[in-house]
Parts: sequence; C-alpha cells; structure tokens
Amino acid sequence: MKKFTKVIAVVLSIAAIIAIFAACSGGNGKEKAKLTLATSADFPPYEFVGDNGDYVGIDIEIAQAIADKLDRELVVENMDFDSIVGAVSTGKTDIGMAGLTDTPERRESVDFSSSYATGIQAVIVKEGSAIKTVDDLYADGVTYKVGAQISTTGDIYFGDDIKAKKTTCTLEEYQSGADAVAALSAGKIDAVIIDNEPAKSFVAANSGLKILDTEYTNEDYAIAFPKNSALLEDVNKALEELIADGTVQKIVDKYIPAK
Ligand code: ARG
Repeated sequence: MKKFTKVIAVVLSIAAIIAIFAACSGGNGKEKAKLTLATSADFPPYEFVGDNGDYVGIDIEIAQAIADKLDRELVVENMDFDSIVGAVSTGKTDIGMAGLTDTPERRESVDFSSSYATGIQAVIVKEGSAIKTVDDLYADGVTYKVGAQISTTGDIYFGDDIKAKKTTCTLEEYQSGADAVAALSAGKIDAVIIDNEPAKSFVAANSGLKILDTEYTNEDYAIAFPKNSALLEDVNKALEELIADGTVQKIVDKYIPAK
C-alpha cells in the first residue's frame, strides 16, 4: 500500500509539471496569427527606440491598432531603411511602415495602402549657414555637400537633380538620418535633406542647427505590402476605419503636439 501511494504521488507530480508547462506555453494551442512589420526605428516621431528599449512612435502605434483590429500579434522587425522595400517585396514581412513615401518607383515592387500622413522634405543647416533657402542649393556653381539617409526620397530626388545637372552640389549618403545630422554638426557636410518631423526632432536634440523655411517636396506616407498581398484589403479597411474614427489623429497628436 505504501508503495502504491508513492506511485500516485509521482504520477500526480508529473501531471502537475505537465500542466504548468502547458499553461506557460499558452495552453490551448491556438496561437494568434502574426502581423510582421518591417521598419527602421531611427526616425522619430514615426519610429524610434523608446526609453525602455522598445519600439515606439506613430507608425508603431498605428500598426498596433491595425493588428488589434485584425486580432493579430504585431511583430516589429527593425532593419536599415534601405532594406525595407526589399523585405516587404520578397514577403519577408507582411507590411512595411517607416514614414515610407508612396512613390511610383516603389510601386514597381510593392503595393501601398491609402495614405495616413503627409511628409515634407526639409533642409537642415547649421545656424549662420550661407544656405538660406532651398534655392541656394541650386545657385550657379555652388559646391555644398548635402547629406541624406540612403534610399530615402530626399537622397533619391537630390541625386536625380545632380544627375540632371540642376545643381552643382554633391551628395553624401548615410545609413541613418542621425548619422547625416552628426556629420552636419561636425562640419563635414553643409546641409541635410530629411523629412520635416524627424528634422524637428534632430534639431531639438542637437544645438546649433536650424530648418530652412522653404520646403523641398511634399509627399504621402503609406503602408507597403508585397504585390498582390491577401492582407492589403483588410489592413487598408482597418486603417481607413482608424482614420475615420479619429484614432490615427489621436496617435499623431500624442507624438506631434499642436502648437
Ligand atoms: N519619407 C522618406 C522616404 O520614404 C524617408 C523615410 C525614412 N524612414 C525611416 N524610418 N528612416 O524615403
């Protein structure tokens, strides 16, 4: 009889251990579908690394709200900006959000959602710079060095203008906007072309810099998908609902307080 009790005790403890493991691994075996997001968390206030080391920003919160609506688990895949369109077009991730401008060239490899924000390409210079307006970058014979994050629209447009001989400036490409801004602060380059909101963040975080009053271009931010993605319709519907019910505006206001 004693032996029998021992056997029961062992069986019960094994059962308890199995139960604990099952509970820890989610138990019912039904895992939520994932929504994988390619982003480049170097672009405040749209995406950046928060104080706790987590990914935060307007795009991350909009993506989270979309994932919630679709009952999916948002998984953020952080990468260099110039890898995003490739990651999305090859289906490595479900979507891409990175303050990403909807352009005809990118539409050759990815599809885009409705636009959820507008971006402006701005020019950052050092305080006291001889560059006073965007036109100064296009003046006869100037040899300013202009920096931009590689593969961004600022980089592409200015590179095109150099090729078309519209400007005699030169272009320096950096892996991140912060790297370009650091080069500007160090006096290695004369200007940085970057989207207006990150420009404001970088200027606020680094003394001695300012944003030119004139704008370089205006563009639309949208969510990128692999071509013919089955998710596009659902994500776009969720996004449009979030725009219509004011959720997107609330998220934007949280990160870009109105003055
Ligand atoms: N709007 C620009 C573009 O699409 C810049 C975006 C850069 N985004 C980033 N997360 N670094 O090219």
